[in-house]
Amino acid sequence: MCGIVGYVGSQKASTILLEGLKRLEYRGYDSAGLAVQQNGRLELARKVGRVENLVKEAAKHRFTGTTGICHTRWATHGGVTEANAHPHLSSDGKIALVHNGVIENYAAIKKFLLPKGYAFKSETDTEVLSNLIAYHYAKEPTIAGQSRFLESVRKALRHVEGTYGIAVLCLDCTGEIVAARKGSPLILGVGDKEYILASDVSALVSRTQNVVYLKDGEVVHVTPKQFFISTLDQEDVSPVVDQVTWTIDAAEMNGYAHFMEKEIFEQPAALENSMRGRFSEDGSTAKFGGLNLGPVDFRQIDRFVFLGCGTAWHSCLVAEHLIERFARVPVEVDYASEFRYRNAPLSGNPLFFVMSQSGETIDTLGALREAQRKGYKVLAVNNTVGSTIAREADGGIYQHVGPEIGVASTKAFTSQLLIGAMLALHVARMRDMSFADGVEFVSALKKAPDLVREALKQAGHIKAVAKRFSKYNDMLFLGRLSLFPIALEGALKLKEISYIHAEGYPAAEMKHGPIALINEQCPSVFFAPQGEIFNKVVSSMQEVKARKGLVIAIITEGCELPPGLADEVITIPDCHEAVLPIVATIPVQLLSYYIACERGCDVDKPRNLAKSVTVE
Ligand code: M6R
Repeated sequence: MCGIVGYVGSQKASTILLEGLKRLEYRGYDSAGLAVQQNGRLELARKVGRVENLVKEAAKHRFTGTTGICHTRWATHGGVTEANAHPHLSSDGKIALVHNGVIENYAAIKKFLLPKGYAFKSETDTEVLSNLIAYHYAKEPTIAGQSRFLESVRKALRHVEGTYGIAVLCLDCTGEIVAARKGSPLILGVGDKEYILASDVSALVSRTQNVVYLKDGEVVHVTPKQFFISTLDQEDVSPVVDQVTWTIDAAEMNGYAHFMEKEIFEQPAALENSMRGRFSEDGSTAKFGGLNLGPVDFRQIDRFVFLGCGTAWHSCLVAEHLIERFARVPVEVDYASEFRYRNAPLSGNPLFFVMSQSGETIDTLGALREAQRKGYKVLAVNNTVGSTIAREADGGIYQHVGPEIGVASTKAFTSQLLIGAMLALHVARMRDMSFADGVEFVSALKKAPDLVREALKQAGHIKAVAKRFSKYNDMLFLGRLSLFPIALEGALKLKEISYIHAEGYPAAEMKHGPIALINEQCPSVFFAPQGEIFNKVVSSMQEVKARKGLVIAIITEGCELPPGLADEVITIPDCHEAVLPIVATIPVQLLSYYIACERGCDVDKPRNLAKSVTVE
């Protein structure tokens, strides 16, 4: 939530900052701003709305300076106004600061600063921090061999409760930025005679592949010639420079109308990447390099606990179904945000998994820390190399699907479903699953990319269905067993990008309440795959039809519905139970996408949302 970029080098900072900021816009898009050091001043431009508005505003300022910071905001404290947009300048004009996170004790700090003459123009928690740094800077005596600027940031942060990723400019320190993090991501790109700070790699990868992932509690002091990392307590930190494995091309739209569309159609390749090199040589099981647990450990586990938020929580529900079904080990799934506070009783030897595309979701990180605090091992399924969750987990599985930029998660979701299925196989093969069943399972999983390619061929038909159904304001998504979580996911996708009220339910639960919603104005999307529950789902459809409800049926090849029962039919390839949730996801992603387009919604940046939720 919120994106920050900083630049120190020899190029015009504003161009590089705005280019980076455009790539971070998916992290928040209420307002944006930048500050550049030039002509002995800290020059600011801020604008409500998208980065595009800031680009126009910045053009008026004729920025020429080579050091600067910028920010795209997702409002927490204070409304969406220019005064609340970052950067925030201290009232003595010495310090400019951009911030991602929440300063929880901002009221107490403000109370401390007001009698000392510091003034506040915004309603934000961030302005308090810029003034606190200015306060320490003003009273900090010069210490031989130490930067007064760096030390004043450190001193201020020692008094801060909450979370932050910050980048700070000081009027007196030309060509310098001090940046720090606690609970919000911050990465330093080490370029050719230049440094770029950013909330995520996509903002800097066009200039360098060499990055340092800052850790919580670390502060980096960047000067034109070098950077220096230390802790708040002045301990030196030796930097580890990592290489980013993808290039800027992966973060381009490449001819698609939206990132969401591109990411939907990237799914066959994404699934191939998620499974590459992860099957045993005898082709009977899945293997993962980074779990840090052997078969003996796995055999002793008496329960899995899966935690995540939003779409990732839906992936956890599918993993629960598949692990219980194939490995016969009990699984619990909890919202990460609930788990971290509800102090649930746990069994003797559970193994925790957290699922998170970004690896920065604060609730999932909080849940991971809570489980670790109780002494449990936590593994992560995560798409973002170097993310906080990836670094704090005891092991894990990278998804390798490349950057996901559309706020609505698509390719990360189906990749998590695949990894959940592979985990089910991995555990099942250590328990009761035979070699032959393992071989069959592996061969089914390997077919997933082609089956998804096949399902994507329905795009034209689904677009037409979407046109017909785009005017409705309510919709139900109904599925059973492993497709109940896909019903939840279909409803979430539709809600978040088209603002249509939608609910996901187990199909048989409909008659226990939601059936009251059914009329000509509330269509239902049913998942009716081949198999033991097909006829039961058909009965639920009949109940809807009997009440004049419209039915969109998603069926597998070979199924036959009674004539006239469905108003629209979408057919997906028939497949193995472990792959079905992946294939069944495709039509609901496309349906939501095309409905949102039909309604003229901003698909990649839906209102009130941000890609990575780093506040509670
Ligand atoms: O990065 P994460 O996977 O931890 O994100 C979790 C949710 O915030 C995320 O899935 C959210 O629900 C998406 N907007 C869904 O499309």
